[in-house]
Amino acid sequence: MKKALIIFGSATGNTEEMAGMVKTILEQADFEVEVKEVTDASTADLTADHDLLLLDCPAYGDDEIELQEDFADFTEQLDGVRLDGKPFAVFAPGDSSYEHFCGSVDMLEDKMNDLGGKMVNDGLKIDGDPGDAEGEIEAWVESTAASVV
Ligand SMILES: Cc1cc2nc3c(=O)[nH]c(=O)nc-3n(C[C@H](O)[C@H](O)[C@H](O)COP(=O)(O)O)c2cc1C
Repeated sequence: MKKALIIFGSATGNTEEMAGMVKTILEQADFEVEVKEVTDASTADLTADHDLLLLDCPAYGDDEIELQEDFADFTEQLDGVRLDGKPFAVFAPGDSSYEHFCGSVDMLEDKMNDLGGKMVNDGLKIDGDPGDAEGEIEAWVESTAASVV
């Protein structure tokens, strides 16, 4: 059975809800899934024995892109980490009325690529409540799961 780790940071619950939805869909695709809040994650988790690493972090900036606070603290510890081709993808809920809609997704993709990760799917950006986007989330998770060999 393939293994996936989802690391999320959430201030008002949307991102946590989305992590739960992604977990359920991945389990239906025969993945064993661990979900960790970013405050419980360590840099070693990024290179641990998982076939797929998923990062789930909303943007909390205004004029510029800022990661959710706990995730920002976590990424500050990542310099020097080498992902050595670890398959990853990024997703988040956001709000398209902000200048940088889900800018956290782009920022984390750049970071993970810089560290040597292998992006297996374009990031998923959901506008508003993830509960209203079940079909879109399901399609993305299924294509992400299928791209893990
Ligand atoms: C102060 C503030 C800044 C935000 N900045 C952005 C942003 O730059 N881009 C975006 O897409 N959403 C932005 N949002 C919306 C949140 O990312 C969105 O509501 C998200 O679902 C929150 O996730 P959470 O409930 O897990 O904390 C912002 C929200 C607040 C309150």
